[in-house]
Amino acid sequence: LTVAVLISGTGSNLRALLDAAADPGFPARIIVIGADREADGLAHAEAFGIPSFVVPWEAFESREAWGAELDAQLKVWRPDLIVLSGLMRLLPRDVVAAWAPNIINTHPAFLPEFPGAHGVRDALAAGASETGASVIVVDDGVDSGPILAQERVPVQQGDTESSLHERIKPVERRLLIDVVRRIAEGSLELGARPHDLGSPSA
Ligand code: GRF
Repeated sequence: LTVAVLISGTGSNLRALLDAAADPGFPARIIVIGADREADGLAHAEAFGIPSFVVPWEAFESREAWGAELDAQLKVWRPDLIVLSGLMRLLPRDVVAAWAPNIINTHPAFLPEFPGAHGVRDALAAGASETGASVIVVDDGVDSGPILAQERVPVQQGDTESSLHERIKPVERRLLIDVVRRIAEGSLELGARPHDLGSPSA
């Protein structure tokens, strides 16, 4: 199974996936890493000798134009699976349509609780005693696709957004690696294309 990973930030989840994929027994191969900016996580691509590309969000006049370039880059690599790992951008609908259901995303909350860009902060603000980590299939909503794996993570007294996020990330990484492995081994089906995305584009 060939995998493309898209990031925006430090790429710690990406790093864990690269470490797992470095094991010759791991059934998936990361072939390219894309980012929406000069993300720190691109250093991992360098370190692991994996090609990478940047489609800088701020260089495009619209989400659609940014998405079209991202899609063009992905079409060069033709991955079997796209993993959003800390990508802080919503993909345009036609990019999701072109690749669905073969796009998965990690989210640092127990979806459907606390979707969106600030799941950790929102859980803290809500005074939740526990939150979680989730891996989902990307559809054209925000963190709304079918849940492939999730696990509860406790919130502790005095937690800050970062201390809680650091407790969530290891769980996220473990779930993500397991989901990618299961997809590669064929024991986890990504299911039918999300109903409202129509047929794949050519
Ligand atoms: C992860 O928790 C991811 O789920 C969220 O942002 C974080 C990215 O962390 N979207 P990193 O860039 O993988 O360190």
